[in-house]
Amino acid sequence: MTTQSPYANLRLLAQLGISLPIIQAPMAGISTPALAAGVSNAGGLGSLGIGAASVAAAREMIRATRALTPQPFNINVFCHEPAVANPQVEAAWLAYLAPEFETFGAAKPTALREIYKSYRVDDAMHQMLLEERPAVVSIHFGLPTAQQIAELQAAGIVLLGTATSLPEAQLMEAAGIDAIVAQGIEAGGHRGVIDPHGPDEGLGTLALVRLLAQHISLPIIAAGGVMDGAGIAAVLALGAQAAQLGTAFVACPESAADAAYRDALAARPAQQTTLTRAISGRPARGLVNRLTELGAAADAPAIPDYPIAYDAGKTLSNAAKASGSAAFAAHWAGQGVGLNQAMPVAALMAALQVELSATINALANLQVRHDTHDAPHLESVQA
Ligand SMILES: Cc1cc2nc3c(=O)[nH]c(=O)nc-3n(C[C@H](O)[C@H](O)[C@H](O)COP(=O)(O)O)c2cc1C
Repeated sequence: MTTQSPYANLRLLAQLGISLPIIQAPMAGISTPALAAGVSNAGGLGSLGIGAASVAAAREMIRATRALTPQPFNINVFCHEPAVANPQVEAAWLAYLAPEFETFGAAKPTALREIYKSYRVDDAMHQMLLEERPAVVSIHFGLPTAQQIAELQAAGIVLLGTATSLPEAQLMEAAGIDAIVAQGIEAGGHRGVIDPHGPDEGLGTLALVRLLAQHISLPIIAAGGVMDGAGIAAVLALGAQAAQLGTAFVACPESAADAAYRDALAARPAQQTTLTRAISGRPARGLVNRLTELGAAADAPAIPDYPIAYDAGKTLSNAAKASGSAAFAAHWAGQGVGLNQAMPVAALMAALQVELSATINALANLQVRHDTHDAPHLESVQA
């Protein structure tokens, strides 16, 4: 299969053992073994997000995926700096949210917890990955420790690291990561920024991919706003070797999205997305909801550290859901949300492939005509 791929010149594909330049983004809580296996079975790279899972649940997901595909797939972990608790900030945030809990007849939590560990300090998760040996591991929010990187690579695992800027990509390259996921500001879900309190230029996918393709010697994977084959062709033209699509896959029946999330994605005109720290404590893009509005209000207090704020966000979302409301649900979505199409993963992969080659063919049928008087412009040969 791989030797026949028209994309065989992209060295990343051989590195990952795939035949199409399409990666389904890891999506903690949303990606499933069926979704990941569907993508891998079609020649792309399926992914599972285990950043918020227990070791046992993560292992089970890996084994369930293996039972559905012999092809390589990717496991994604969160490498953030462990949370810094601040009881005053947390109490003020809970007090601010108290009326919302009351609306749903729920008691506001008395305290907030760091609801999951960073992979950097999670030795049990690391040992599990060394035992299970997925073909690929991708990392978000920073880097694993140098020892973890060395051990994962010694186990034959290819490492992908998320970068939202050139300095972050340079850090990944210096640490020996194998390929970079260049995540633009358009992307749905959490921004992979290493320091969520540092300066963030918010580069778009187009500028970021081009910048990294010129300054980084590793293969680049473009993420953010890519929804169809034309988008994939566009990022290949910019110098990326593959595209990573998240939002496009959420509406697949194989994802774990609930009915309210699916309805929200199907809305036309599309609902607005916003970048917010209010849901989890880190910047993430999702559909505007009551919590994103509360976070943006002028009188909003400081938001607790990630993932401590997520404890409040998830508790509130569950209380609302129990009352039949999705007003606090984290419906992560990128700027291209209005382009999503709900279809089974196999059909979506087939459509992406057809659109990608149709776009490449259409571009090949354009030629630059240099006119002695006019500036160069594009013209269709067949026109
Ligand atoms: C529902 C959802 C969950 C996500 N969860 C993760 C995650 O667990 N780990 C990760 O590295 N990226 C995560 N992302 C971000 C994706 O990796 C990717 O950067 C993004 O989806 C690309 O933008 P797009 O949504 O416009 O395609 C998530 C994105 C979405 C939409």
